[in-house]
Amino acid sequence: MNATQDTPLVDGFNPRDPGVAMLARAIDPARPALLVHCGPLPGAGPNATRLVLDVRERPENGERCIPAQLPADLRAASAPPDTDAVDPALPLGRRWPLALVWPRAHLGKDFSEQCLALAAMHLEPGGRLLCAVRKARGGASLKRSMAALLGNVRVAARDHGYHLHISENVAGVDLQLARAACERRYAWSDPLLGELELLGVPGVFSRKHLDLGTAALLRHLTENGTNGGPAPSRVLDIGCGVGPLSIWAARRWPAASVLAVETNALAAALARVNAVRAGLSERVRVLHRDILTMTPPATQLEEVPPGFLTAGCDLAVVNPPTHAPSELFARLVTAPASFLRPGAPAWFVVNRSGSLRKALRRSGAELDAPVEVPGFHLVRARWPASLHTR
Ligand SMILES: C[S@@+](CC[C@H](N)C(=O)[O-])C[C@H]1O[C@@H](n2cnc3c(N)ncnc32)[C@H](O)[C@@H]1O
Repeated sequence: MNATQDTPLVDGFNPRDPGVAMLARAIDPARPALLVHCGPLPGAGPNATRLVLDVRERPENGERCIPAQLPADLRAASAPPDTDAVDPALPLGRRWPLALVWPRAHLGKDFSEQCLALAAMHLEPGGRLLCAVRKARGGASLKRSMAALLGNVRVAARDHGYHLHISENVAGVDLQLARAACERRYAWSDPLLGELELLGVPGVFSRKHLDLGTAALLRHLTENGTNGGPAPSRVLDIGCGVGPLSIWAARRWPAASVLAVETNALAAALARVNAVRAGLSERVRVLHRDILTMTPPATQLEEVPPGFLTAGCDLAVVNPPTHAPSELFARLVTAPASFLRPGAPAWFVVNRSGSLRKALRRSGAELDAPVEVPGFHLVRARWPASLHTR
């Protein structure tokens, strides 16, 4: 088994997590179960339905996978409805005897609450909602959320600091509360992005404000430029989230085209919405893709605007997912080498730059000394012509 096969495909999913094992034990493969954005739980099979929000979340165990999409009013601005996808604000049209939630802490408490609400709304009478969570990582608060939604909750098992909470649908769900959790959204602005307002929803990065690391990178690039050369024509934003780096780049260089790539369905959809709202949809192209499936020569993608794969980009901006397993992290941060023209810069922002610099050096990149700003390292990498991977 190679490192990639060995690595969980679902962002944040850990098959060895005691909470995952607790949930897996509760699944009866012969009976239907709803897995709410919690990864490919062992034991799930064709009778399980799994809600997914990431293009990498394939049906690992034969489950039926349903992708996430934005609530209808948000997606109206940018995309036609995906009839197969789940809108958190609308019921799925059927109910389950068992619904499971394994909170993905890095996506935020509001996302876990939304998952619990979705699960509760889809329980049949007498159905059970199970949530396995580490007591010290918000367990008590999610337990309270379950009690508020269904009027009851108990701890059914304990293991290595994890609690398995169970609520039963005996008296119905508090629909008002559940809908409020599912329809939650945020609007934020930041002086670095001018007067614009960006939208966020639970489950995306960065949903409530401009991430501090992204802000540090934007501040540095605003004050110092990117490379001292001419304005870039093509900019690549890997892991664009809701789009702040792409939107900043498109505003700063009015002739530039930006390619924004994002695996998370909700984030990619919101980046599109945010580009439309900023009047930049002509120049900011958002792809809902895993960048690791895009590196040449693997694909010549029709969706990629001309020039991005062939002539190369002039600049990449990346605020990488630092919680990713190390081998995936290394592949992601070296992906710009396949898109940039030789010598063009990729700018990264990270809290600590050790593993980033190691991965970049191994790929043959030339690095400047990291720029240290409070809390962050900004790293510029360039791949010289002789080492260029294309
Ligand atoms: C730290 S966030 C940065 C988001 C955004 N650029 C910002 O600055 O607010 C990293 C993003 O990378 C996305 N991501 C992770 N792995 C990816 C991959 N293989 N391909 C594309 N996007 C990925 C995550 O979903 C997440 O939105």
